[in-house]
Amino acid sequence: MPLILWKDSFVTKVKFLDEEHEMLIGIVNELHFSMLAGKGKPVMGEVLGLLVNHTKKHFDNEEAHMRKTKYTGYYTHLQEHQYLLKYLTDFHYSFNNTQVIVSIELLDFLRDWLLHHIEHLDMQLGCYLLDHGVS
Ligand SMILES: [Fe+2]
Ligand SMILES: [Fe+2]
Repeated sequence: MPLILWKDSFVTKVKFLDEEHEMLIGIVNELHFSMLAGKGKPVMGEVLGLLVNHTKKHFDNEEAHMRKTKYTGYYTHLQEHQYLLKYLTDFHYSFNNTQVIVSIELLDFLRDWLLHHIEHLDMQLGCYLLDHGVS
C-alpha cells in the first residue's frame, strides 16, 4: 500500500496545485516503495534528487502566484516552505556525502509535513486563488 493515499481533503480545485501535489505525493510514495524494495544508493539518490527538485519547483510556483495576487498569508506560508526545503536539501547533502540512508522516520516526517501543509496552508491558498481568478 502506498505511504500516502490521495484524499478528497487534498483537492483545492486549482489545477496546478492539485497536479503538482499529486506528483509530489507520487515521488514520496516512490521513495517509500524503493526503500522497502531494498534499492541501492544510486536509485535512492535519483528519487531523492527528483523529490528535492520537484519540491523546489512547486514551492517557487506557489510563491510566484502568492506574490502576483498579493496574498496576505505569504510570509507564514513562505516560512513553512523554507523549513521543508532546507530540511530536504540538508538531508540530500548528508545522503550524498555520509552514510545516512532513507529511513521510515524520514518518510513519516515527509508524509506528516505534506498532509498538514496541503490540508491547511495550501487549502487556504487554493480558496484565495480561486477567488482571484486562478483556477
Ligand atoms: Fe503545495
Ligand atoms: Fe505551500
